[in-house]
Amino acid sequence: MKNQLYFDITLKEKAKAAFDAIYKEQNSIGYYNLVEQDISSILKYCDNISSDVKDIAVIGIGGSSLGAKAIYEFLKPVENLTRELYFFESTDPINIKNTLDSIDINKTHFLVISKSGTTVETFSIYKYILSKHANPSSYTFITDPGSDLEKYAQHIDASVLHLPENVGGRFSVLSVVGLVPLALCGIDIKALLQGAKSIKKSYFEHGYLQETLLKKSLFYAKNHAKYHINCIFAYSESLKYFCEWYVQLWGESLGKKQRHSAFNVGLTPIGLIGPKDQHSFLQLIMEGTRDKSVTFIKIDDFQEELCVIPDITLPHLESLDTLNNLAFSTLINMQCDSVIEALEKEEGIPLDSITLPKMDAHHIGSLIYYYELLTSLVGQLIDVNTYDQPGVEAAKIILKKKLAL
Ligand code: PA5
Repeated sequence: MKNQLYFDITLKEKAKAAFDAIYKEQNSIGYYNLVEQDISSILKYCDNISSDVKDIAVIGIGGSSLGAKAIYEFLKPVENLTRELYFFESTDPINIKNTLDSIDINKTHFLVISKSGTTVETFSIYKYILSKHANPSSYTFITDPGSDLEKYAQHIDASVLHLPENVGGRFSVLSVVGLVPLALCGIDIKALLQGAKSIKKSYFEHGYLQETLLKKSLFYAKNHAKYHINCIFAYSESLKYFCEWYVQLWGESLGKKQRHSAFNVGLTPIGLIGPKDQHSFLQLIMEGTRDKSVTFIKIDDFQEELCVIPDITLPHLESLDTLNNLAFSTLINMQCDSVIEALEKEEGIPLDSITLPKMDAHHIGSLIYYYELLTSLVGQLIDVNTYDQPGVEAAKIILKKKLAL
């Protein structure tokens, strides 16, 4: 992954302290080490799912669904996947009905994913689907060891897979939570983890990313009051769900009360897709309040050279002939570069960009781990507990009271 950093800041002592803290965190926070896990049992498990199963459906929400969805939706357009992956992640009745209508329930394997094992959205949807299809062998449950969900799954004699207890929901995409649904669709999870591992190695073993990530996180932390809105501007429709994943990761991890003060702090994530959002949100970045930083994500090789603007002249619109014979993959990157150039001319808009060489499991794995590491570093530097989510829990507790659960 190429990364050009445009922030003009110097590395400080604070960076060393942050690096040391993150280094230590590897002993207690599980996501760092997922890249080294042995995936043979996951692959074996997936091989045992009957070839009659045509579709996979995840029933889960937040950290239990967004990561797998980000990776699946990124790879689906460019890879020949063996099964379709569906997500039941909303209590919106229309969405539940439409998703159910899209699958053949008798040829679908359902993955019920909940770390806590008690999330209302997940279990209301599960009950609904169970009422239509009661065969326990069509369900696999993914949860923390010892949860009530595990006990339930054992009770009905269904399969259970564990995610490590020290891996939080929004950091769980490279655990069984993401790897099982992705592997069941034929995604190369080994390449995914290798991509993530290359980022880990570069950061922890003095590769080029160490300085990049430390500088970038120091910038976010130092300027968290001024540049409190952090936009990802991704030039690929396939990164739409990656942006959703980023919004959860950044928002839930960094919006907190500080650990050593009474202050509430937070960085607001925005996910934008180019070129579409050039025609909506860009104006706000360009001329609005100087409170936003922007990270552009580009794809170098879309693996789609055939999609070219044809050599057609439109009467009265002859000036547009210069578009003729241009590949759309070239056009979209020219659009991204033009926006960067235009923003560079403005004062007070911090920019950087990340280029993914191609659309494959390795590179989306790198991007995921890059953002996880960045989130951990920023959390450390703005003095919050990156890994809890008391705000989410508070609403869950109130809903449970309302439902008399
Ligand atoms: O990141 C998180 O911890 C949350 O977004 C959870 O993933 C989400 O609330 C779902 O929780 P659970 O997996 O326990 O059902």
